[in-house]
This record gives sequence, C-alpha cells and structure tokens, in this order.
Amino acid sequence: MKKIIIQPSGKEIACPSGETVLSVLEKQGYALPNNCRAGACGECKIKVLSGEFDQGFIMDMALSQEDRDLGYGLMCMAKPISDVLEIEFGTADAQPKLFPPIENSWHIVTDKIQRTPNLIELKLSPLGQSIKYWPGQYAMIGDEASGHPLRPYSIANPPRSDGELSFIITKEPNGKTSPWIHDEVNIGDNIKINGPYGTFLGDPSVDTPILCLASGSGLAPILSLLNAYLSRGNKNPVTLLFSAKTKADLLHHGKLKYLESRYVNFKYKYTLTQESNKDGGLEGRIDKVLPLLIPELSNYSVYIAGGVSFVGSCKNIVRELGAKDELVHMEEYFAQQV
Ligand code: FES
Repeated sequence: MKKIIIQPSGKEIACPSGETVLSVLEKQGYALPNNCRAGACGECKIKVLSGEFDQGFIMDMALSQEDRDLGYGLMCMAKPISDVLEIEFGTADAQPKLFPPIENSWHIVTDKIQRTPNLIELKLSPLGQSIKYWPGQYAMIGDEASGHPLRPYSIANPPRSDGELSFIITKEPNGKTSPWIHDEVNIGDNIKINGPYGTFLGDPSVDTPILCLASGSGLAPILSLLNAYLSRGNKNPVTLLFSAKTKADLLHHGKLKYLESRYVNFKYKYTLTQESNKDGGLEGRIDKVLPLLIPELSNYSVYIAGGVSFVGSCKNIVRELGAKDELVHMEEYFAQQV
C-alpha cells in the first residue's frame, strides 16, 4: 500500500489506492481546511515535498501556475502515484484547526422557509468573502444597531463551494433577535453575521458507530455533521433519534427519510412526546425510548444538540447506557431572555 509522510513530524499514514490525500488525512483525524472538495476553492492547498501524485481535474483559478511550479497541489483531488508521497502539513500533532472568525460579514437572505409552526429555515449567501467553518459550528446573527443582539445559531449545512449558509431558527417569544428574524427579516435583505464559532465538531478519526440525539433546532448542527459524514463515504452505522412534541414539529422529515434511503448505514428514528405516534413508531421522551432502541452505548460516539433540559436528560441516559464521556459531544441552546 502507498503511504503519505507528513512533514515536519515524519508521521506516516497508509493510503489505500484510489483515495485522495484529503480523505486519508481526515480519516486519521487531521483537519485539513477544505471547502468544495472538487478542486475549485483552493482551500486544501498543500506543498508536496517529494513523490508523484495525480492531481485530477482542478480549476486553474484554484491553483496558480506559480504554486504548481513550487510543488503545491490540491489535496481534495490529489491521489498518490508513487509509493511514498511526502507532504508539508502542520506539526506532529496537527489538531483540527479552527478557522478564524470573520466579523460583520455581509450576507443576503436568499430564502426563508417555515419548516414547522415555530421554526423557520433561513438561507444566506455571502456578498463578499464566504465564511469557512467546520460542520457543527455556529455563527452569530443580529443587528445590534437596531436593538437585536447577536445570537448564536448553528449552521445547518456542511460547507458549500458557493458559501451558502442555512440556519434553523426557533421563535423565542421573550427574545429580541429571533422574533426579528421571523417577523422582520425578509428575502432579499442584507444582514451581517459573525463566525464561525464553536467546537461541536465531528472527529473524522473516530472509528465507532455514531448516535445523534436532537430536538427542535438542535437538528441544525446534527444535519451539518451528518451530511458531511455520510457524503464522505464513511461506513460506520449512524443513528439519528429526533424528539418532537407532535408530528407537525418533525423537522426536515422528508430530507432525513431521503438520507435513510440513500445511505444503508444511516437510520432515522423519531419519537413524539406530546401526541400518539399513529405510524406505530416511538412515543415518549428520549430517556424512555433510547434504551429500547440501543441498550448499550459503550462503543458509540454520541452527539447531542437541543435545549438545556433536553441535553441534560440525554446526557444522563447515554451515561447510564455506558457511553464514555470522551465520546459524548453536546451542544446546548439557551433560550434568549433579552
Ligand atoms: S477543497 Fe476546494 S480545492 Fe480542495
């Protein structure tokens, strides 16, 4: 098997034939910045110190001739040809590198969709430089000048080459920002956002089954992580259990059913907490239904996102079922009180 050597650490990684350098690095837990995964954005540019690689088809604008002459390549499309490919990347313990947040990044509202009685999905496209982020991160939205404080909202889609961001926003009756977004922000408006922030990130090096627990707009970061994970061809089993009060509160139900039919390793379940499930599915809170669904979690990575009490009760039940603290990731949403 071919191998990749990372310098200056000298770490060696086996590279199965046909795999790109980016996907091999990610599977080993190295967070090489990337955006389009298609040779168009130039984010994954790395210097190749020795060895041969097939660069595949990439856009001229993503890698200049000067960079090519200096030995740089785009790792999202690069496949090693020689037995050893030596690249320059980070340090011995290259950790996921967080992108520096951008402040006051102008975006235009391209869509606003009522998803459930209490939730809208807001889609934004960048008017300037797009925000680079990892699936699971969030951005701050608000307009302080008009009395609408910046509030964190998770990004609901994995990074796209056009920079589009999607957010799922719960209307908090006592808040100032979410009612403004629901009632006053319109398609075609320009708004400023700050981001990315947060460390609710998927670890690509983890080789375990995955359980995601979400309620309400907590589905947003989970959707971003799920889509990124599944579209990269990861084969570990992934189960999403979504908690909704009623069937009308099921969020992205069709999209999740689609993902379930497309990826054999993905199972989508939902439970209704305030009405009976006429489809014969699950009913009741997650702490009641999860033990029936997956009674043993000691080898699972668990991602939990939702309101504070939801996350608290999920944390307790997954611990009772044997989940290891270091493999449990949580994103709690606090209701906006001002
Ligand atoms: S990720 Fe965009 S060029 Fe590689």
